[in-house]
Amino acid sequence: MCGIIGFTGGRNAAGVLLDGLAELEYRGYDSAGISCFTQNGITTVKTVGKVANLKACLPPGLNSSCGIGHTRWATHGGVSQTNAHPHTCGRVTLIHNGIIENYLALREELEKTGRTPVSQTDSEIAAMLIDSLYDGDAQAAIRAAAARLEGAYAFCILFADQPGTIYCIRKGSPLVACHCEAGSIIASDMVALLRYSKDYFVLEENQIARLNADGIALTGADGTPSFPDYQTVTWDVSSAQKNGFKHYMEKEIHEQPEALSRTITPRIIKYHENGAVYTLPDFSADCIPDSVFQKLSRIIITACGTAMHAGMMGKVLFERLLRIPVTVDIASEFRYQDPILDENTLVITVSQSGETADTLAALRLARSAGARTLSIVNVKGSSIARESEHVFYTHAGPEIAVASTKAYTAQLAAFYLIAFRAAFANGRLTAAECSARTDGLLSMIPSIHRVLEMKEVTEKLSRHLTRASDLFFIGRGMDYALSCEGSIKLKEISYIHSEAYAAGELKHGTLSLITADVPVIALATQHDVLPKMVSNIKEVRARGAFVILVTAADAVVEESQYDYRIDLPATDDWFAPFAAAVVLQLIAYHTSYLRGLDVDQPRHLAKSVTVE
Ligand code: F6R
Repeated sequence: MCGIIGFTGGRNAAGVLLDGLAELEYRGYDSAGISCFTQNGITTVKTVGKVANLKACLPPGLNSSCGIGHTRWATHGGVSQTNAHPHTCGRVTLIHNGIIENYLALREELEKTGRTPVSQTDSEIAAMLIDSLYDGDAQAAIRAAAARLEGAYAFCILFADQPGTIYCIRKGSPLVACHCEAGSIIASDMVALLRYSKDYFVLEENQIARLNADGIALTGADGTPSFPDYQTVTWDVSSAQKNGFKHYMEKEIHEQPEALSRTITPRIIKYHENGAVYTLPDFSADCIPDSVFQKLSRIIITACGTAMHAGMMGKVLFERLLRIPVTVDIASEFRYQDPILDENTLVITVSQSGETADTLAALRLARSAGARTLSIVNVKGSSIARESEHVFYTHAGPEIAVASTKAYTAQLAAFYLIAFRAAFANGRLTAAECSARTDGLLSMIPSIHRVLEMKEVTEKLSRHLTRASDLFFIGRGMDYALSCEGSIKLKEISYIHSEAYAAGELKHGTLSLITADVPVIALATQHDVLPKMVSNIKEVRARGAFVILVTAADAVVEESQYDYRIDLPATDDWFAPFAAAVVLQLIAYHTSYLRGLDVDQPRHLAKSVTVE
């Protein structure tokens, strides 16, 4: 949700900023801009469209060693060159990621001082505010402005009379930085730093960072200097590149076996009991004690989008194994439901980015109400990870495509591991039972390789979907949770309207939408509900639906009931959702590609949603 970057150092700033913006483009891509210190003061170039457009607009020989850059996902004000960042007011030029909630009141106040905004953005008002408070002391002006701003922000700010220096502050929106051989660099995400350094630190909320070519100085909210807490990423620059695949999404789909191994295997231990050796999940290295899962009265899972769909699978697992009530709440609704929270409630937040504003807000509410908190997060050091009492990192590696794939299956794996461990810790599974389930989870990974070999099949059937205008996913139990994920994946990148339905619920209204040739993707991976699923498939078939059946190889379904059948590699029903999820990802991918769409950067969306 807007990517921002600042650089000052011994290289051509415009080049560093453009490279960084290209890496950050997944965060927003409706317009882009940079501002650089040059011999003639600050030069700003901005344009509608992607970073490639910006590159084409840059004046030749733009010579600078310090500048800031932005790629936008519009919140306030339409997509236009004027609304693109950076914004300048007086001596202040800034870029912003976030939302200033009280910008209208501030604008009214600032207009009375003779300042007139040219854009419709909240960000320009922040520039005006800082300029109005600036008398040569940048830090004092930023602090005073921060005290007036409500909402979320990450700012990189240039002061015209301080060439070579960038000031940054954040609240709610991410910023990571490093000083390296190239100079000092700060950005919304580590991926923009990676070609210069594997070491980085997260700017603390309300710290001010002052970046110069020779270093980064940090000042805490009380004005005292502080020192960065550097971390190291374990992946390298190639992890965030396409590596021969046409799209990031395709690459990330194919990375799932490795990603799942990274999620699962480091958490597997050998456990000895009465002379026998068992394979159990163990979270000692994550510092998650069993007590987190004991004496619980309920579990609440809260997240957004795909992460919430992973949570729906978590609910099925926890309720089956722990026999306590579990609810799944959309994070943006959680706060408004006045949730019942206490110390015996475990609130699990799930987030790939670890920055989703609504999920973060739900976590903060849970903590303030005294609930136990555990977050399943991919991005190390992200806000949700830092604010949660306990963190389970999925270690899926960087996910660049807007549509989440490997992060989702890694989240599923996290839920399986947590459910197994929690059941063991509560005496609901014996060591032998827990070990058998854990072995089942491990042996699921090769089945993903086999699904990845089905490219031709999924591509062929996707050709039948490209002209559809409406489509349905149906399933029961785990397959319903999976249907929700299949549906969001398809609609977000193919722009075909689709809905996920609990298979038994269709006939209570929605069946009226099933007409000849409406595609229905029927998920029937669970043998216990297979007869019921077959009846539901017959119901849609009788109305002429074009049925794609995803099921177990041994499932008996009359051939007349489907147009395509995808048999999943043999596995215990408990683990079938993994292979089925990959089938659905491939269908979404091929459908989008065959429709000639931008697979990695679908319209109107952004990867990291840091606004509420
Ligand atoms: C869909 C997708 C989104 C995200 C959602 C939450 O493919 O990626 O629905 O799952 O925006 O994002 P995170 O997981 O970063 O909190």
